[in-house]
Parts: sequence; C-alpha cells; structure tokens
Amino acid sequence: MNDQLIAIIGGTGVYQMPGVVSDAKDSIDTPYGEIEFSRARFIVNDRGASLPLIFLPRHGYHHSIPPHRINFRANLYGLKQLGVTHILATAAVGSLRKEIAPADLVLLDQFIDFTRCRCSTFFDGGDMGVEHTDMTDPYDSNLRQSLLEAAKRADLFLRDGGTYACTEGPRFESRAEVKMLAQLGGDVVGMTNVPEVVLARELGIPYAVVALVTNYGAGLSDQPLTHAEVTQAMDWNKERLQQLLQAWFYVLMNDH
Ligand code: HPA
Repeated sequence: MNDQLIAIIGGTGVYQMPGVVSDAKDSIDTPYGEIEFSRARFIVNDRGASLPLIFLPRHGYHHSIPPHRINFRANLYGLKQLGVTHILATAAVGSLRKEIAPADLVLLDQFIDFTRCRCSTFFDGGDMGVEHTDMTDPYDSNLRQSLLEAAKRADLFLRDGGTYACTEGPRFESRAEVKMLAQLGGDVVGMTNVPEVVLARELGIPYAVVALVTNYGAGLSDQPLTHAEVTQAMDWNKERLQQLLQAWFYVLMNDH
C-alpha cells in the first residue's frame, strides 16, 4: 500500500466516516479553482498502523453545492495533484426498477449521460489538448472486485452491476422521464456520477462507485419525492455503507 493513496468522494449523507481519524480540513488550488478536502487515516491496528486517505465531500461539508454547480474538474484535478492513485465514490440514487429496492447497495458498472450544462472533459483544446478517451467500461474492474470481496467479508449484499442514468438536476425526474430512463437501460438514477467518472478516467485514476438506493424513482411509488426522503434514507442506511468501506480498507491492506 506504500505507494498508493486512496481518495473517498463522499456523496449526499457521507460527510465523514467513523473508524477514520480526520486531520484538519485543507484546501488546494487547481487550474479550475480551489477544492476543500481532509486528510484522514484509517486505523488498522492498536500498534499504530494506519492507511492514509483523502476525503472529499462532493457537495461540500454542509451539502451547500448543488449537483449542477459542483466543480468536478477542480475536484478530480486536485485529487491528481495530491497524488491520489485510486478513488472510491459513494452516491445516493433513486431506483428505476421495482426489483432494486430502497436501502440496496449497488456497485455500478455502466452509465448513461443525460446531463446538459456541464463541462465534462479536461480535453477541450487548451493545454490538455484534444483526446478521445475510451469509456467502454468506465469503472475500474480491480477496484470493483475488491469491493465485492469486502462486501462478502462484511456480510453485506452488494448488487454486482448497475447502469447509472445521470440527469442534470437539481430537480427530480418526471414520471415519464423515469419510465424513459428505465426503458433505455438505466437501473438507477442520480445527478452527479457524470462527469465525475469520466474525468477520473481522463486522468487515468482508477475509480469505482458504491451507490446507495434512497428511494424509488418518481412515479414508482405513491408518494411525491422529496430531498428530505433522500437524506433520511441515507442517514438510516449509511452505517452499512461505512461497514463496507471499513471492510474494503482491510481487503486493501491484506492485498499488499
Ligand atoms: N433522482 C435523481 N437523483 C437522486 C434520486 C432520484 O430519484 N435519489 C437520489 N438521488
């Protein structure tokens, strides 16, 4: 593990992690703007062994940055500048299918991009030049395998594979949109994984996401959808997500 530095990008409801000692918040300047993050350590044993981590709350420490205003390029470029070698992200998602229920954990393996107003590339003809990045399998297969192993170790069900339909937000979808996204192959819907996964790939940083299903997509349940429902579901279920992350750190330590 010596030459590796893991970053956790925390989504809605994940602003810190128990079992992880966090140093003071820090910030770094990038060509795209400044980002705030914490340096953290996962304590491995009582002899003081620990795994260094970078923690970056995607929406800010107080959920003050809406999905369409997240500075994704600064976030990813900043992590690269910090020497991050692997990224694990969490994401709150709505389910587009009855068989994927609220509280399920899904290890994404594909995405479909329905965003409209975001800068989704580093390769826009400036200093970084023009490049067309392969996106056949956007999520890193080694990281995915290690997460499946961690789920086994923690005795948690982690759904192996799921297609993330990314919408622009910040509004939720209409009933017709949820129907369309499912018909086009989406399994879950969220507002942030594009361009995050794309930019990580453009920078060559292996990246994976564990999505936590907080609700059924609009129209799949009887109730209108609210942000409070999403954050409450995240609160009720984030312990399992944290157990999974902790088991994953142990898997990583034992691998090396
Ligand atoms: N739609 C979009 N984003 C979301 C949802 C949803 O239903 N739930 C959590 N994030």
